[in-house]
Amino acid sequence: MNLILPVFEKPPPIIPSQEKTLIMTVLMTPDMANFSGHVHGGSLLKLLDQVAYACAAKYCKSYVVTAALDQVFFRQQVNVGELVTFMAHVNHVGRSSMEIGIKVVAENLRTHEKRHTTSCYFTMVALDEDGNTVAVPKLTLETEEEKRHFAAAEMRKKLRLEMLEQTRALHNDLNEED
Ligand SMILES: CC(C)(COP(=O)(O)OP(=O)(O)OC[C@H]1O[C@@H](n2cnc3c(N)ncnc32)[C@H](O)[C@@H]1OP(=O)(O)O)[C@@H](O)C(=O)NCCC(=O)NCCS
Repeated sequence: MNLILPVFEKPPPIIPSQEKTLIMTVLMTPDMANFSGHVHGGSLLKLLDQVAYACAAKYCKSYVVTAALDQVFFRQQVNVGELVTFMAHVNHVGRSSMEIGIKVVAENLRTHEKRHTTSCYFTMVALDEDGNTVAVPKLTLETEEEKRHFAAAEMRKKLRLEMLEQTRALHNDLNEED
């Protein structure tokens, strides 16, 4: 008897895309509350910094530090008991710096209602073991959305560095007046 056996082709190798996103979900507990019973801005900032660190370090596989944080806009209050999801993405890379955009969504566990409560941009810088800045991998832009994010982040980087220069000049002027 002739048996015709199916031929199973070897599946194509999975080429991992760059690790440029990170999602973290945290339950808001009473120790995070401020005097009004809502979640303290500082508690959220700490979590945001941790998410930015993890997203950047995972992407570049180096130690990273926070260089700057801008455009933190608390659109709505977050309540104790809500489940908060931080969605982070590497928007842009320079030589050693990365812009990490984070969107924060709070979910009421009883109604399942979700609210976009915060968005912000962190600049993280990669350092080597001696504490010197180190080059990070080039960002592969795979979708139209990623290209848009990259272009917007490039503009923000330019504005950020211009603002830094102007602030330094202002400080120098003030120091000269003393
Ligand atoms: C961030 C830090 C490493 C930059 O050092 P530096 O000597 O200014 O280094 P460089 O001038 O080579 O800049 C390195 C990168 O940081 C960026 N950068 C530096 N200062 C910045 C700022 N204030 N805002 C945004 N980006 C900044 C530069 O644009 C550059 O990006 P690129 O390499 O992609 O072009 C240094 O300022 C530092 O160690 N700061 C303390 C960080 C810290 O303690 N964070 C809190 C705890 S993690």
